[in-house]
Amino acid sequence: MPVPQEKYLSPIWRDGLYKDKVLFCTGGAGTICSMQVRAFVALGGNACIVGRNVEKTESAAKDIATVRTGAKVIGLGNVDVKDPAILKAAADKCAKELGGIDFAIAGAAGNFLAPMSQLSSNAFKTVMDIDALGSFNTAKAVLPYLIESAKKNKNSGKSNPTGTGGRILFISASMHFRGQPLQAHVMAAKAAVDQISNAISIEYGPYGITSNVLTPGPIAETEGMERLARAGDRDGAAQGYLRRIPLGRMGETKEIADAMVYLFSEAASYVNGTTLVVDGGQWRTNSSG
Ligand code: HXC
Repeated sequence: MPVPQEKYLSPIWRDGLYKDKVLFCTGGAGTICSMQVRAFVALGGNACIVGRNVEKTESAAKDIATVRTGAKVIGLGNVDVKDPAILKAAADKCAKELGGIDFAIAGAAGNFLAPMSQLSSNAFKTVMDIDALGSFNTAKAVLPYLIESAKKNKNSGKSNPTGTGGRILFISASMHFRGQPLQAHVMAAKAAVDQISNAISIEYGPYGITSNVLTPGPIAETEGMERLARAGDRDGAAQGYLRRIPLGRMGETKEIADAMVYLFSEAASYVNGTTLVVDGGQWRTNSSG
């Protein structure tokens, strides 16, 4: 039975906003991205999520499909974003089965806390490969489809022709804006992700494509926060975070989904090559913990 939209996103959004549109999302079974996909599907879209773990990805897809009667949500496992050929095959399958790709989220990421002294070259490379190379590979796989989607918009005669498709969103972090201990690998990788988005915004803007970065802050019940808590004292870690957030609370996954809905909506038709930080103002503070 369909569940109310309020569970996934703010009720302010128009029903059917993404009717018949298609979203391709890497890391779509993860806590943050699965909520974004839910929001997209709740608003009328169909989606394909990809991930390394078959069971996790397929069961997340099934679960997401329950948010709206008639929703089509495909879950493709065994898709490692580090492998461009596998990722391209996944994008091709998504487009074939769902009729194209209008929106994409590069959300797959890897993270662990480690001091540089204990970070091997392979550990550094692993996170660079998942986050940076993976985001690049995702973009390369979907951009031909996004160009097609943007072309349709251009031909629609609308005044804001980038309004309804041809958009890519990268999920990044804010730690590299200032610096954070134990995160050299992630800081480097997320800085690269940001610049991949910036490059696309310039090179593909002329096609009517927009590329932006969404930077979630500390979001409750995510794998990233769980790892952080496991690495230290759970309550202490949470309290440390809360002290650094001007709004005084952790974010919710649906607040990240709302930001995505905005960036993919007609309301953001002139927003290209920017970073939307959704962290309660955390990165503006100067305390490191
Ligand atoms: C030091 C570590 C380590 C640790 C792994 N490595 N964990 N080094 N401290 N805690 C090293 C390994 O020893 C190895 O190096 C290298 O990293 C690769 O490890 P593998 O386990 O072989 O890699 P893999 O199976 O590909 O797993 C990748 C992973 C894993 C990143 C290590 O955690 C993963 O798959 N994560 C995906 C899910 C995830 O992380 N989600 C959270 C995203 S949150 P050697 O030298 O031994 O070969 C996020 C938001 C950021 O990104 C913001 C947070 C605040």
